[in-house]
Amino acid sequence: MTTVVNGRPVRIEHAEDDKVYSTTGRGRTFGDILAARLNRRDGVKGIAAASAITLAGTGLGASTSAQNATPGATPGTTGNGLTFQAIAAATGNEVQVAEGFQVQPLASWGEPITADAPEFDPENQTAAAQAQQVGYNCDFVGFISLPLGSDASDHGLLVFNNEYTNGELMFPDYVTIEPPAEGEEEPTIVLNPTQEIVDIELEAHGMTVVEIIRDEAGAWSIVRDGEYNRRITATTEMELTGPVAGSDLVRTNADTEGRTVIGTLNNCAGGVTPWGTVISGEENFNQYFANAAQLDPESVQALSAARYGLNEEASDRGWEKFYDRFDLTKEPNEPFRFGWAVEIDPTDPTSTPKKRTALGRNKHEGHTSVAVDGRPVVIYSGDDQVFDYAYKFVTAGNYNASDRAANLDLLDEGTLYVAVFAEDGTGEWLPLIQGEGELTEENGFATQADVLVNTRLAADLMGATKMDRPEDFETNPVTGKVYLACTNNGNRGVEDNYGVDAANPRAENIWGHVIEITEAGNDHASTTFEWNLFITAGPADDQTTDYAGFDKSLVSAFSAPDNVTFDNLGNIWISTDGNRVEDANDGLFAVPTEGDERGFARRFFTVPDGAECSGPCFTPDNSALFIAVQHPGEGGYWGEQVNTWPNNESGIVPRPTVVVVTRSDDPTAPIVG
Ligand code: FEO
Ligand code: CA
Ligand code: CA
Repeated sequence: MTTVVNGRPVRIEHAEDDKVYSTTGRGRTFGDILAARLNRRDGVKGIAAASAITLAGTGLGASTSAQNATPGATPGTTGNGLTFQAIAAATGNEVQVAEGFQVQPLASWGEPITADAPEFDPENQTAAAQAQQVGYNCDFVGFISLPLGSDASDHGLLVFNNEYTNGELMFPDYVTIEPPAEGEEEPTIVLNPTQEIVDIELEAHGMTVVEIIRDEAGAWSIVRDGEYNRRITATTEMELTGPVAGSDLVRTNADTEGRTVIGTLNNCAGGVTPWGTVISGEENFNQYFANAAQLDPESVQALSAARYGLNEEASDRGWEKFYDRFDLTKEPNEPFRFGWAVEIDPTDPTSTPKKRTALGRNKHEGHTSVAVDGRPVVIYSGDDQVFDYAYKFVTAGNYNASDRAANLDLLDEGTLYVAVFAEDGTGEWLPLIQGEGELTEENGFATQADVLVNTRLAADLMGATKMDRPEDFETNPVTGKVYLACTNNGNRGVEDNYGVDAANPRAENIWGHVIEITEAGNDHASTTFEWNLFITAGPADDQTTDYAGFDKSLVSAFSAPDNVTFDNLGNIWISTDGNRVEDANDGLFAVPTEGDERGFARRFFTVPDGAECSGPCFTPDNSALFIAVQHPGEGGYWGEQVNTWPNNESGIVPRPTVVVVTRSDDPTAPIVG
């Protein structure tokens, strides 16, 4: 799909996350929901008190902007450790950060990561070079201390996802602009993927593992020949594990056993497990497959293709022209081998990544683990699609804090649950188990593999709550409360689509919201919970927005909450993807979750034009904050780039880059506290 937007010559849509692949229905109005929520929320009474404290601290009286108001946030008075002054909403082609902090590009697309890898040369890129260089479009970022098992914050493994490729930015001649077709106003955009380009794209997808180290002066760098350095790509051999492995549904001509998959695709959000592996979510895998319209309409493949949004005709990416596995007329089961949570062990560079099918198949996001020695591990994940669901997985086995090897296959056995949010602020986790409830053979679920391959269809039957693009889903390390970022859903309540419900209370929700969940007994394996809306994002002058009851005129308003992380003091750091407030660039916002400043969002960092902000991740001591600046310059194309960040002076292409933020005065000191 291609369009022309904002006067820019071209925009190529790489994700289809605003399309509705769900069933439809009607809900209540926002007014009904708001009234019910206000009646039961005692937090409202805190609004006046919170703003009074802030204003007293600033001495600014009727200050109306976050930039002016933030001096009120002083350590010791609030206990949340956030001392920076919020920066203004920004546009433009550079990153911005709060005063007192510095930003260093650390891992840019194309950076060599092995001793003999070629230097980055975008005009002469090859698949072989790309396979030994940092991948494209960094997203989730994880940090694992070195030595392994330590909590070092000056040396470690940086593990990050490389979600997708922007061929139009990366390659000369990928895009051709032709005059408008007769009767059309907009030019025709033709994409020209060649075999050579597709092979580079395959190697630019996946994940990157690099050893990084901080020097005496506080600067970070990649250890170029680090023993753990590794690329995992769309051509890396992976193992299917868990209940779906070996099923008829995942057998193909190339893999008649249904146990070996080539590659991982569209790796978006993720999480680090307590045993030092990384779980990476395969998100918009649907876009790579072509020709669903030619499937037998009665087949499970066709039913599934419709629910997961596979291309009915040719794909924009055109990979099916060169590789049969992306053509459904040749390999109808291949899509069943993507859309999983992939566990990799970055501490063993020879290890085979494992697609953990017990966690279900959808557009995976999140994957924070909660682990207590001797108890089951709990992993939260979202399915990022409008009107799709929030999940958690509870392992059958128990976490063993003293025996790493005992945890390495924990994710192959357990129970997958989907969330139902009731209107009274309670909620329930419904197990997706073959034979239970509606998940019967008569309804098309003869085995647990059927349930897991078509998790969305199973959750539909169970009556799960249809969410506004549930993305990152993380636990606050201080309070144990769990936070779910719902990015947005402009289709909520529009035409025949589902209307509002208590957990998704706004029709045409272009702003997004964050839900706060408290599991019963603060036991993350519990099957019931309580919840409330933590933030309904959007501009302060929109009557439907709410920042946990904080005075809206004082916050850095934002929209499109996407990835989140927590600092050691329990503040949530929310990055945005597609912010619309003030038409400003995406950024990272720090928000206290407890105390007088609960809900007081402050903008800490912003990305350049065209980029989304993703992957925030702290070192264990919070002295370094890694942020993935994804798809800078999106909206341009080779020869007409919007920018060439981070080399705006000299570059010819923008480069997606993981940056590291530290204090300017002392890069080894905590950012928070
Ligand atoms: Fe790749 Fe849901 O963001
Ligand atoms: Ca994202
Ligand atoms: Ca996260």
